[in-house]
Amino acid sequence: MTVITNIEDLRILAEKRVPRMFYDYADSGSWTESTYRANSTDFGGMKFRQRVAVNMQNRTLQTTMAGQTVAMPVAIAPTGLTGMQHADGEILAARAAEKFGIPFTLSTMSICSIEDIAAHTSAPFWFQLYVMKDRKFIERLIDRAKAAKCSALMLTLDLQILGQRHKDLKNGLSAPPRLTLANILNMMTKPRWCMGMLQTPRRSFGNIVGHASDVSDMSSLASWTAQQFDPALSWDDVQWIKQRWGGKLILKGIMDAEDARLAVQSGADALIVSNHGGRQLDGAPSSISALPAIVEAVGSQIEVHMDGGIRSGQDVIKALALGAKGAYIGRAFLYGLGAMGEEGVGKCLDIIRNELDLTMAFCGLTDIKKVDSRILLPGTY
Ligand code: GLV
Repeated sequence: MTVITNIEDLRILAEKRVPRMFYDYADSGSWTESTYRANSTDFGGMKFRQRVAVNMQNRTLQTTMAGQTVAMPVAIAPTGLTGMQHADGEILAARAAEKFGIPFTLSTMSICSIEDIAAHTSAPFWFQLYVMKDRKFIERLIDRAKAAKCSALMLTLDLQILGQRHKDLKNGLSAPPRLTLANILNMMTKPRWCMGMLQTPRRSFGNIVGHASDVSDMSSLASWTAQQFDPALSWDDVQWIKQRWGGKLILKGIMDAEDARLAVQSGADALIVSNHGGRQLDGAPSSISALPAIVEAVGSQIEVHMDGGIRSGQDVIKALALGAKGAYIGRAFLYGLGAMGEEGVGKCLDIIRNELDLTMAFCGLTDIKKVDSRILLPGTY
């Protein structure tokens, strides 16, 4: 077997091991996928200033995100259907994050439930909330996250309607997968995945099925979103959610300085510059290119995080250089999970940590908290 040395190695292995419809679900963007691609490629133009003869002993990557100590400024992003990339995927990824010392964020659209994650981990995790029309259900979800001692609530603001992802429609994405001939033939080529799935009871949306009224099964994410998600979500709802939750609140999906100011006014603790991994508004700028204007507008008033396109520790440090206090990995950890389960997520985190640590040293710094735009070559960002 090839020696795994970078995130792309994990992606290639995940593509071999995960059924097509779930691999495609993770690894695609909306419409032309131009934003999805730009999220990664826009990091490429940014160049580092190499410094030499600087004592690089005793380096530290430890800092804080949303008031929580983190072993490095990276958190696991909420991703839907993670338990379909690998059996019990959310539990495995949460465990890997806990071992490493970074936050794991559980998606509302996860396969393993909030209670499942709480039962299988001891570090507090973060919970990501989508707002649905049934507000009683949302109240119960918030209360369940509180009961599970989640240490932050992440409210996603950019997915009340769903950007069209062609592959999901063509593949007939559903959880559990519908047993069409094409799906059966594809799954037969993924024996590890099938073995895992046969051994777990967790094959549908754990936070929802059995908890929301009138939902026993969800045929597809697209139809579920159209029926249940509330397109009327507004800043008034953010207030209501903040009050009901009462703890750390992180707002996800901010791409505009005007919205960033509204996020500050809402009293949230942090915001995430995010275009949802290029899965929503195709044609929006990459997250890394949107970051500087938002940091300039509100960076002194609220903690700014970012996600989108992070495939290496070098991408993380570039985001920090442009003013982010932390970055999230979505696809990068999903590749690790699909490739090798919990061990693969651990591998992904090790790879990112090593790249981050060495790059920081090459740029002449030993403390991640000191990173700023001076590590970048002027004119390249
Ligand atoms: C969210 O759940 C997504 O599919 O992007």
